[in-house]
Amino acid sequence: MEEAQRLKNLPPYVFAELDRLKAIEYKKGADLIDLGMGNPDVPPPPEVIEALISAIREPSNSRYPTFDGCDEFRAAVVSWCKKQYGIKVDFESGIIPLIGSKEGLVHFALAFVNPGDMTLVPMPAYPAHFRGTILAGGEPYVLPTSSGTGFLPNLDEIDPEVARKAKILFLSYPTNPTAATADRAFFEKAVAFAKKHKIILVHDFAYAEIYFEGKKPISCLSIPGAEEVCIEFHTLSKTFGMAGWRVGFVVGNLKLIATLKKIKTNLDYGLFSAVQKAAVCAMNLSGDYLERTRRIYQERRDIMVDGLNKLGCKTQKPSASMYVWVPVPSGFDSTSFSMRLLEKTGIVVAPGPAFGDLGEGYVRFALVDSKERISAALSRMEKAGIRWS
Ligand SMILES: Cc1ncc(COP(=O)(O)O)c(C=O)c1O
Repeated sequence: MEEAQRLKNLPPYVFAELDRLKAIEYKKGADLIDLGMGNPDVPPPPEVIEALISAIREPSNSRYPTFDGCDEFRAAVVSWCKKQYGIKVDFESGIIPLIGSKEGLVHFALAFVNPGDMTLVPMPAYPAHFRGTILAGGEPYVLPTSSGTGFLPNLDEIDPEVARKAKILFLSYPTNPTAATADRAFFEKAVAFAKKHKIILVHDFAYAEIYFEGKKPISCLSIPGAEEVCIEFHTLSKTFGMAGWRVGFVVGNLKLIATLKKIKTNLDYGLFSAVQKAAVCAMNLSGDYLERTRRIYQERRDIMVDGLNKLGCKTQKPSASMYVWVPVPSGFDSTSFSMRLLEKTGIVVAPGPAFGDLGEGYVRFALVDSKERISAALSRMEKAGIRWS
């Protein structure tokens, strides 16, 4: 019963190991403050919950959905993308609903990467950006990023031979885990680079709506001509606190969309119609839900960053996402520090290598618990003598 080589090629999935360690601590009765996984705790809008309940009562929604999504879903995506990002989406063939964007990202790699192909991945990265390539038998080529360059890859430095061979460039700004953002000039450069080298440009826009102080992230598809090379992945997981509902969508280049659809038609049956109806309600919602959500994450960010800095950690407040990415205190590596935190304080964080080797020396705090619990986490660290300097 030997597993396939493609699974053996994958690096360990750190979050699975984290779950195992958490289960042991919970069994001992520990009161864990779990800031490990980016698992949003802000509840979805009540109207969206009601929309799901009434959609479930409608018998036709229990039948298989269509791959393209229902008309209302596609209409809602078209108007959401126009309203939020100023981008034009083709109603007929420019959208596929996704069972979460992770599913779409990994299937996209399976749809385009042949064994031996190369993809370009700025690291540290959200694991699906490189694991899909590995599953497909390809090779993710690491574009190193660091705090010194705002965690943006230097596209000018890529070896022309690598650029010639590469099939996909994966970008995602605001970024998980580093919380870095990219401006219009960077996206213009990325689009020009992709066009010059005939590379597919994937933009994962998972944190499109989690930003602070009015610093709204831009869609890669808002760059003129981007639709010739680019496909953009969106999700309702973080925007509307719907991570467990598994709903996202992809928009952009029509040929890329058609190919992704080809692989998905062989793998799944599309997105549960009742969830589509709830997503329509979310995207059409008026009111201040998004503003309130941003305020919640911003307050948590402020408490976390101010508190860490009081413990000697010199870190800046990120302008987007729900993460605080910090170097570990000297004398530790990512794993030993994460273990120390878990054992001495009951705080769960994500060790940096979960996001590739270049994450070594860092941990990520996800802002997925209340202000009070984040303050409690900081007090626990102080009491346990955990300091950066
Ligand atoms: C950058 C990024 N993309 C995609 C996802 C997955 O989102 P979804 O719930 O839509 O699969 C995450 C989840 O943490 C993420 O951080």
